[in-house]
Amino acid sequence: MENVTSLQTFLLILFLSIMLMILISIKWISFHSKNNKNLPPSPQKFPVIGNLHQLGSSPHRTLQAMSQKYGQLMLLNFGSVPTLIASSAESAQEIMKTHDLVFCSRPKLRIPSILFYDCRDVAFSPYGERVRQLKSFMVTHLLSNVQVKSFQNVREKERGFMIRALEDSYESSVDIGELVHSQIVKIVYKAAFGRMKDGVEVKLINLLNNYTNVLMVFGVGSYVPWLSWVDQVTGLVGKTKKAAKEFDEFLEGVIEEHVNQDGMEHSRIINEGLTFIEVLLNANKDGTMGFTIDKDVVKAILLDVFVGGIDTTSKSTEWVICELIRHPRVMKKLQHEITETVQGRSMVAEEDLEKMHYLKAIIKKSMRLHMPAPLLAPRISTQDVKLMGYDISAGTQVIINSWAIARDPNFWEEPEEFRPERFVESSISYKGVNYGWLVFGGGRRICPGIQFAGVGMELAIANIVYKFNLALPKGLKPEDLDMSEKFSISVGRNTPLLVTISPRF
Ligand code: HEM
Repeated sequence: MENVTSLQTFLLILFLSIMLMILISIKWISFHSKNNKNLPPSPQKFPVIGNLHQLGSSPHRTLQAMSQKYGQLMLLNFGSVPTLIASSAESAQEIMKTHDLVFCSRPKLRIPSILFYDCRDVAFSPYGERVRQLKSFMVTHLLSNVQVKSFQNVREKERGFMIRALEDSYESSVDIGELVHSQIVKIVYKAAFGRMKDGVEVKLINLLNNYTNVLMVFGVGSYVPWLSWVDQVTGLVGKTKKAAKEFDEFLEGVIEEHVNQDGMEHSRIINEGLTFIEVLLNANKDGTMGFTIDKDVVKAILLDVFVGGIDTTSKSTEWVICELIRHPRVMKKLQHEITETVQGRSMVAEEDLEKMHYLKAIIKKSMRLHMPAPLLAPRISTQDVKLMGYDISAGTQVIINSWAIARDPNFWEEPEEFRPERFVESSISYKGVNYGWLVFGGGRRICPGIQFAGVGMELAIANIVYKFNLALPKGLKPEDLDMSEKFSISVGRNTPLLVTISPRF
């Protein structure tokens, strides 16, 4: 009996010693492999939260300031997640071009997973063959040039409503940003579903606000997994599930309507082509996609369109109007270009836009200074890679500070100046080929909605500027316009853009 006990004790000690040796070896190996690695510079971090406390309310600005101290590539810790911040055109090019395949995946975060059907959409989905095909379907069938052109009727009709609303506001100040937003909501919704019943606009705006509110919150669980319970206790998970459920019920209702013939017929009367929902539902019938998509994926893609397409477009349009008000010389020159092109017709038509090079330059210039997405959606490295001499491990989150890049004095002459003339001559395009300006991102993850957003912004701005003179209320001078921004999923103005309107003709 005594022999058995001492044998057990011996085995226990042996087991514990082996475990201790394994632990020491793991620590030793990880310590040495870390030390042998050439990591990007890192600011001091706190235990558990890492550098999260340093981000502040305008992370793109804070990270820009940090990059001036630590360099174009720096390694932070968001909780326990190593996060690489790229703040130069050169580093963005390395990430989005040279090593695009390594960096084109997205981290699967808890809040987007709840909101976007387990990240089965395009924007939040990790990269793979499924998302590659879905995105290619989006680009060639949902948001192609032909498809975007087919919504011309919708855009011109909504432009008419917006102009009439502005005409009704002569003599009083009007929140022009709100009118622009409402117009974009209706265009995107009608492109998706054709008709829009009374009350749907308000409902959709509420649902989108609920999404933005939870997407904006830094879910602790995504960055410090052992603290995930905190997101339950603070109510974040509950709020997120509620927002997802309400949007799901809304989408179910509209899709149901469209499955019956009435919905389809109606949408055809409004649009010349097919609505998004028709394209998506037909894809399964005629096998366009090469694989079938279930209803959750259809809803997830519609969410990408609403969440990714509405606020970004309307906020960008609003920023352009701000810059025009602040720069009367530019406004005058643009009014001249439009008046020359339109030649006495009552409204600007889409066909006119091609000739308006100054308008296009103004929009690009404004979007360089005011980016709705100043930090590009996070990516994640899928394998170990050498990046500009640094060792980047698989599983590193990557954030490109496109706001800092667009203001980099090494890349841009007088980066803070608003001089659209420079953009008229340059061949710089929205497409992200020039890594100094990534307003729509780049590489495999580039925004598929560039064409859709571009024509919507151009048409709205051209018509407003053609029909009206804009001024600030209460005798405020252009230079008094408050330009402070509010950081959110898309960055807009901090205060409403109130203007007074008078007719030009
Ligand atoms: C001014 C308007 C817009 C801006 C500034 C904008 C900007 C962006 C940016 C910066 C990205 C991330 C790119 C990257 O990670 O490299 C993105 C992705 C995306 N955008 Fe847009 N966007 C706009 C309009 C739209 C519209 C109108 C739609 C749809 C109708 C749309 C749908 C998407 C989708 C689905 C993605 C995800 C692409 C992917 O992850 O592969 N966006 N957008």
